[in-house]
Amino acid sequence: MRVTRRAAFGAVLGLAAGSRPLRSSAATRQAAATPPPQPARVPVPPGTLAEFEPLAKRRMTHMAYEFVAAGAGDEITLRENQAAFDRLRLNPRVLVDVSALDTRLTLFGQELEFPILLAPTAYHRVMHAEGEIATVRGAAAAGVTLVASAFATTTIEDMGKAARSPLWFQLYVNKDRGFTRDLVQRAESAGCRALCVTVDSPLSGMRHRERRAGFVLPPGLERSNLKGLAAAGTTRRSAEGTIYNVVLDPALTWKEIEWLRGISRVPVLLKGVLSPDDAVRAAEAGVGLIVSNHGARLLDTVPATIEALPRVADAVAGRVPILMDGGVRRGTDVLKALASGASAVLIGRPYLFGLGAQGADGVTAVVRILRREFEMSMALTGRRSLKEIDRTVLWR
Ligand code: FNR
Repeated sequence: MRVTRRAAFGAVLGLAAGSRPLRSSAATRQAAATPPPQPARVPVPPGTLAEFEPLAKRRMTHMAYEFVAAGAGDEITLRENQAAFDRLRLNPRVLVDVSALDTRLTLFGQELEFPILLAPTAYHRVMHAEGEIATVRGAAAAGVTLVASAFATTTIEDMGKAARSPLWFQLYVNKDRGFTRDLVQRAESAGCRALCVTVDSPLSGMRHRERRAGFVLPPGLERSNLKGLAAAGTTRRSAEGTIYNVVLDPALTWKEIEWLRGISRVPVLLKGVLSPDDAVRAAEAGVGLIVSNHGARLLDTVPATIEALPRVADAVAGRVPILMDGGVRRGTDVLKALASGASAVLIGRPYLFGLGAQGADGVTAVVRILRREFEMSMALTGRRSLKEIDRTVLWR
């Protein structure tokens, strides 16, 4: 069939064959070729935690990005921390009045508005010029508790002074017990309300990406809390030929945990427990637990934390509070962790990418997005309060 030019244009313009175009064909051609004026493209702010990573990658040095992103070994556990969350399916209940949600909880006597905390992470001034002070400010704007790292590049005193939301302190027990005792007291005096003793690190993990990127603390930065200790300001991992790290004590045992409980005036939690047997021992010792594989940065091929969590929860049977971290990237992940026995979760890399991308505002935005997603997940599964989140939330 022969199609005339006019008929062809008519078809493009939605005109019946033979009808008169309203404008001359030259004007019509020009109108068809000129797109309607578009409003200026406003950059869309990140709406998911994942969107902060590429922004941060562009802003941070290569070395800093690799330090944050890397996992141990072949990064099998790193991938698995998120993949195991993704494999879990939810079991929504319908026709529940979810017009009012209550996400509050009490943890070690402290009121939290929602069950999310910021995990302890080292060296924030490597990721952003304002470092831990930006993190503290971002945390305050989001109303979230921050666990300050022993390896911060800002002293716990300065963080305490800037803090407007609760601070906890993470401790690596040092061989120098006098120094460790002083550090616990300094953290308490700075206002820290709980002590998270990291127990999974008799030595550092093998993080090949970090090594290949040549990670070192840039000149002028140091582990500010460790001043006074030999090698405090360096990231030197070990003396030549040994597997040990100069600032971690490989001889740490349950005896030191008893000692720490004795000297600490705030609640003690063990960070880095995966085995139900260790969890039972911790419950007997009366200390809280953070189920964690250190963000998959230490020992590759240990299980994802969301897989270890239900076993730990069964073993502990409610005797002490359990927190968890590792791979939490979505509100549904928070819901799944609570359904598996955690009272609250912590996030690490997501807020570091927020910090690297946008400083304090990025930290705030990350927490707000995750909190909102969590609330939506609660409502859409028909759970009105944290008490209503149990294993029936998961599709079995
Ligand atoms: C950490 N983590 C960590 N843990 C700790 O006890 N003391 C520390 O100083 C650090 N430092 C640190 C630095 C960086 C760059 C990362 C990514 C992690 C581990 C952290 O507390 C937490 O367990 C994980 O980050 C949780 O996993 P996600 O959320 O990063 O997947």
